[in-house]
Amino acid sequence: MPIHLRAEPSDYAPAVLVPGDPRRAQYIAETFFDPGYRLVNEERGALGFTGTYRGTPISVQSVGMGCASAGIYYNELIQLGATRIIRVGTAGGLAKGLRMADTVVAISATADDPVVGQLVNGEAHTPTASYPLVERAVQLAREKGARVHVGPIVSSGLFYDPRQGIMQRWADRGHLAVEMEAAMLYTLGAIHAIETLCLCTISDLITDEQNAERISDADLKVGVDRMMEVACEVAVG
Ligand code: HPA
Repeated sequence: MPIHLRAEPSDYAPAVLVPGDPRRAQYIAETFFDPGYRLVNEERGALGFTGTYRGTPISVQSVGMGCASAGIYYNELIQLGATRIIRVGTAGGLAKGLRMADTVVAISATADDPVVGQLVNGEAHTPTASYPLVERAVQLAREKGARVHVGPIVSSGLFYDPRQGIMQRWADRGHLAVEMEAAMLYTLGAIHAIETLCLCTISDLITDEQNAERISDADLKVGVDRMMEVACEVAVG
């Protein structure tokens, strides 16, 4: 039994959704899983649930914020037998043309957090999603009427970033959005040869380090709900 997930391998499905927020994990289980799902972890309030989605086993586990926290949970999920891990999160929009509640499918995640480099001994490595999951997610999101953007994102180590102009430089280098957990997931996926994907709903539109416009709660729910349906279908597909 791992230290932070007080569970046995049989408690988790091979496919796991990984939001940051424990309450979002609960919302996903309540809203999208078939009736009869169960709580499988509550250590430190990091809620995890296992059930089925349209009859196929699925789990959801909250992982906290940042690569350091999320990496603990990703590692322990892999120890418990997860073979497909899909991050469902929010992100700040960097690219022109993004709108609130748009869906971003992250092909790759630039690791702007030193803990990710420590995992690969400082050697160059591009954290990359599993292409079959990317392809399926794009197709499903389009079918559901989402505005979908496919490309690289940044996984930042600092939510409050003091570096002047960093957001603009990331945007100028083609990044669609910034969040804080995908690069760790994709790197662990490569190391352990499991499938990984990160889907994000745009919750802020970033102008610079000090200024971002925030989505309304109602619009966020619409975007997140649509992304969750896509994530559940990709997870069990
Ligand atoms: N920065 C980092 N992570 C985020 C943001 C952001 O602006 N918005 C949502 N997740």
